[in-house]
Amino acid sequence: MRKIGLFGGTFNPVHNAHISIAEYALDALGLDFVIMLTGGNPPHKKNLKIPDAKLRHIMLKMAVENNEKLIACDFEVNRKEFSYTVNTLEFFKRVYPDDKLYFIMGGDSLDYFEDWYKPERIAKLATLSVYGRGKAHRFDFIKDKYGAEIVNLNGEFYNVSSTNLRKNPDVMRKQVPERVYNFIRKYKLYQLQKSDIEILSDILSEDRLKHSIGVAKMAKHLGELYNEDAQLLERAGLLHDAAKCIPYHDALVMCDELEAEIDPIERTIPALVHPKLGAELVKCLFGITEGKITSAIRCHTVGKSDMTLFDKILFVSDMCEDGRVFPGVNEIRNTAYADIDKAVLMCIEKTIEYNSGRKLYVHPMAYHLRELYLANL
Ligand SMILES: [Fe+2]
Ligand SMILES: [Fe+2]
Repeated sequence: MRKIGLFGGTFNPVHNAHISIAEYALDALGLDFVIMLTGGNPPHKKNLKIPDAKLRHIMLKMAVENNEKLIACDFEVNRKEFSYTVNTLEFFKRVYPDDKLYFIMGGDSLDYFEDWYKPERIAKLATLSVYGRGKAHRFDFIKDKYGAEIVNLNGEFYNVSSTNLRKNPDVMRKQVPERVYNFIRKYKLYQLQKSDIEILSDILSEDRLKHSIGVAKMAKHLGELYNEDAQLLERAGLLHDAAKCIPYHDALVMCDELEAEIDPIERTIPALVHPKLGAELVKCLFGITEGKITSAIRCHTVGKSDMTLFDKILFVSDMCEDGRVFPGVNEIRNTAYADIDKAVLMCIEKTIEYNSGRKLYVHPMAYHLRELYLANL
């Protein structure tokens, strides 16, 4: 029979004390491993003060990467509904029916244990393993009332306040693992009232940011002209390349974390990873919930058979915003303002010509779209 620790939290963000508690429990209780569970998104999650669960989970994975006995688990990350502790314990009891579970929890939580959902069932499923300020009389009370097995982790854990840490970059630098700290800084996760451009300026190169601003401008103009949502198009233009400057290897890891479904061909070609990854990244980093934006970002490089007007405008703007310089760009640009479908076809033909001329891969979608648009124009 193995001994398995379960340690859940919002991990907002994960910090050194979380890791110390998990490592202390490993030793003190002789656990085989500790499963650390990133808490899901709060039910009303328009509020970006809490970074998306997927981003918090990426940080947790970074924090435990040096200890193979600490396992970051996303069981609660993708659950739509609120998950009670008892549901999580029931799940892990089914996964590990012959093993003994230790639920690692803060002493403060014992104060209101009877208010938890199904406390008597929790007490049967796991040994409560308590760190921090636990009151002795509460231990006795819960043991008596629920027949709970409780162990007291008496380790010295530093007193870290996540709230304080989020407000103070110096405290944060000292209290979170270095890779986590760099991730937080890069994506400005705890900076409030940040604009799109402020975030982009750290994750895009200068040229890429300039290009994105150019795409935003053109997409907005075309939106006004074609009676499509110009404001949304402007934002889509600004954000469309959000994942473009992520190094290839990191981008593949993030595709898995954020569940960006790239196909095997896209996986092998760096330039083709960023559209689908970008569509997922803008959801959790910029709080984009508008399907028009994510759809257009997803298909902005390769296109798709059933592009909407919104998709087409972003597709064309990406190709011929004011900063683009290549033979024939002015012609496409002028066409875009007169006939968007014709401009899409010209973009596709230009891509085929450019890539095949340089012996670069041409995505089959380009040939398919060329035929489709030729037949319909
Ligand atoms: Fe792009
Ligand atoms: Fe672009």
